[in-house]
Amino acid sequence: MKTTKIVLLGYMASGKTAVGFLLNNSLNYTFWDLDHYLETQWETTVSEVFKSKGELYFREQERKALEHLLAIETPMVISLGGGTPCYYDTMSYLKTLDHVVTVYLKTQVATLSERLLKAQQSRPLIAHLEGIEQIQEFVGKHLFERNFFYNQADHIIETDQKTVETVSAELVTLLA
Ligand code: S3P
Repeated sequence: MKTTKIVLLGYMASGKTAVGFLLNNSLNYTFWDLDHYLETQWETTVSEVFKSKGELYFREQERKALEHLLAIETPMVISLGGGTPCYYDTMSYLKTLDHVVTVYLKTQVATLSERLLKAQQSRPLIAHLEGIEQIQEFVGKHLFERNFFYNQADHIIETDQKTVETVSAELVTLLA
């Protein structure tokens, strides 16, 4: 394995955290989920920070936290938040770093929407939506905008109808 940082990106509920956790077990890297890292620093949730300090503050902090983790001299799997690569110059920045491999976990709108319906409250961007149709409409438009950034990843793995284990095993093969 030549690379020292594997960065997983993709829309909310694309499985970044679950795949990252498992991948990390196979590779014996350090694993950080960026949201979880921030929550540990803040001792509160992303939703609370969105409410109390606003989204812009959150975006600044997630970028700073990402830079901090990437600078640590340890092989690492990092799962980004869904929006991380879509703010500032973050996607171009990641691509300038030789020791970073980016992987887009690509998931269909229907699959994302079903998963998000069950986990809506922990996601401030979609907490106000009512029912599966509103979620599908929102995710469809939002993913269309974000795909511009996601599609710049070094690798793309489709995750629909695959288990977390399968996706993680595909990644291990891809990165070997
Ligand atoms: C966000 C995704 C969330 C979290 C925040 C904003 C986004 O992370 O960072 O709620 O803009 O897509 P997950 O992708 O891990 O849900």
